[in-house]
Amino acid sequence: MGLMDDIKRKARAVRKRIALPEGDEERTLKAAEIIAAEGIAEPVLIGDTDAIMSKAAGLDLSKVKIVDIPKSGRLESYAQEYYEIRKSKGMTPEEAQKTMADPMFYSCMMVKKGEADGMVAGAVNPTANTLRPALQIIKTAPGISVVSSCFIMELKTKEYGDDGIILFADCAVNPNPDAAQLAAIAVSTAKTAKQLLGMEPRIAMLSFSTKGSARHELVDKVAEATELVKRMDPSLMVDGELQADAALVEKVGRLKSPGSPVAGRANILIFPDLQAGNIGYKLVQRLPRAGATGPACPGVPGPGHRSCWAPIDWSPSCGPGVTR
Ligand code: ACO
Repeated sequence: MGLMDDIKRKARAVRKRIALPEGDEERTLKAAEIIAAEGIAEPVLIGDTDAIMSKAAGLDLSKVKIVDIPKSGRLESYAQEYYEIRKSKGMTPEEAQKTMADPMFYSCMMVKKGEADGMVAGAVNPTANTLRPALQIIKTAPGISVVSSCFIMELKTKEYGDDGIILFADCAVNPNPDAAQLAAIAVSTAKTAKQLLGMEPRIAMLSFSTKGSARHELVDKVAEATELVKRMDPSLMVDGELQADAALVEKVGRLKSPGSPVAGRANILIFPDLQAGNIGYKLVQRLPRAGATGPACPGVPGPGHRSCWAPIDWSPSCGPGVTR
């Protein structure tokens, strides 16, 4: 059974009510039809009824609820609640009314008020627009200071992670986490791995350095975050700072971090910031397995001032080649 099949099976067992704020968007409409037909959840489309129906030709939405915000009878009370939550931040009643008419914010208020169990969006909205209403209205779960995100990467090559499954974090939310935030991201991701996938987490805190092979304040941040994770949850298997090959490739891991329970067999990769995480997951998603030859350093003259300079061994590092 594939990963998505397993997640659908679990969803069917609990049948949660899910608000879909991009209610008249074509992929969302099709998804709502499938979700209802397969009993995966109870989808609720948020949007103008006429706009939804005009786009839904040929779809069976008979089992799908539609919430048309102006006709919902809840706009006033939701706006009042939003005003109360945000008045210390300068929110006015008029602005609250306007904001609550936005399906993204309205859906989050549905979740807060228990009218929905969750919300799914992002088909047409950028990630920041989907996150901000949730951070403002629903806020964080008890004991959680930093909301983060993780991607479940399902690799074609089964030798990495847990039979090809690796979690990447944070790839979508926190642009520049400090050491404490990075540690919190690692602990949350481990919890997700256990709860959602039943995995035994082995967390690699990624860097461009392995155990002091490079010195830089960016490396220090990752090393500090690793120590914080150990203090936050001593039961977790975590190692850092590690380069990605030391995290994933057994031979490299053994060489660069001997005795580590994680190096060479990590199933959770924690990226040092959002640039690394977002770029990293998209590269893995899009590119087939590639060789890497380098590092070459254009700008440093070689003999005769003609070539660029390769500072270490010139080692193609596809497969378990070791380049420091
Ligand atoms: N965890 C917990 N709370 C947070 C977090 C977080 N990670 N980030 C912000 N908050 C809090 C803020 O402190 C604020 O609290 P307050 O209102 O009580 O003071 C509240 O959430 C709302 O914050 P805003 O100021 O409205 O939003 P902010 O400007 O902080 O933006 C956001 C938060 C939207 C998550 C921003 O950090 C962001 O844009 N992140 C990057 C999103 C992105 O573009 N990802 C890449 C693409 S994703 C992909 O490719 C799949």
